[in-house]
Amino acid sequence: MKLILIGFGVVGRGFAEILLEKSDDLAARHGFSAEIVGVATASKGNLYHPDGLDIAHLLRAAETGSFADYPESEPLRRDWDANDMILRGSADVLLEASPTNLQTAQPALATCHLALDQGLHIVLANKGPVALDYGRLRGKADAKGLHLRYEATVMAGTPTMQLAEEALAGCAIRSARGILNGTSNYILTQMESGMTYAEALAQAQALGYAETDPTADVEGWDAAGKVLILAKALFGSSLTMHDLDVCGITGISAEDIGQARQSSRRYKLIAEATPVGGSVSPQLLPLSDPLASVGGSANAITLDTDLLGEITIIGAGAGKLETGYALLSDLMAIQRGT
Ligand code: HSE
Repeated sequence: MKLILIGFGVVGRGFAEILLEKSDDLAARHGFSAEIVGVATASKGNLYHPDGLDIAHLLRAAETGSFADYPESEPLRRDWDANDMILRGSADVLLEASPTNLQTAQPALATCHLALDQGLHIVLANKGPVALDYGRLRGKADAKGLHLRYEATVMAGTPTMQLAEEALAGCAIRSARGILNGTSNYILTQMESGMTYAEALAQAQALGYAETDPTADVEGWDAAGKVLILAKALFGSSLTMHDLDVCGITGISAEDIGQARQSSRRYKLIAEATPVGGSVSPQLLPLSDPLASVGGSANAITLDTDLLGEITIIGAGAGKLETGYALLSDLMAIQRGT
């Protein structure tokens, strides 16, 4: 499998590290092998090599903030951007892991459409294109017999989309409710232990949980993007951001958290999606609520189904390897043809 990777931030590097570490095991146990032929970034530069890039060198070069130190090896191209790689290269799959833009989804959306037009499968960690243009992307992918996968966009590599779309195929899902933003959950948890909001946010950024602009995390928009993705994927809904009620955690003070603790309750940022609407809001949960015990950067989702009742999954919601793994799991699903 030849891959073009757009973006080489936390998620892209996490994916590359996993590929480097596990390639022998993946080949031996799953017959899976993949090489990164192209990486296109906004700040580090671009690299394309038809025989595959050296991942150890790629990771080392990225640490310097630029691909300038990546060693020369004919016919390496540094002058091809993402579009050149799609149009002139020989990849099978486009991995979109550049920063999410929930206003326009660009430039990732145009890149995804171009890649589908050129016959590439798409795997997204970028939430923008799925949240804002899922219908057209899905229609194009289906018409061309291409895979369009986006496990990383909700709950990192915790298999939410694979659970909902594959393992639960045949069940009708009536609603989804849970904690879908790792950064805000991490901040709330740390504030309960006495850390200030600013310290907790800085830690979440250092640990690679937060978006490039963390406003989306703390104001609820990141979770709202995930609500849109769930609504479109699970219910085929045409909801937009304007249809959602969205409130983040910035209005919750240390005093609020202290008072909640005294009354055996806990603030959580709860996201909900139904076939007709959705919301994101801080809610005061009794400690007996299972969602109240989901701490740190962990996420949780409860799917209400017609045949199995409620199914809850708890796991990683953000992080380098945790999200990088989602890309791998989607590629392995493509390899299996699922
Ligand atoms: N910034 C996101 C979060 C990353 O904190 O949940 C995963 O989508």
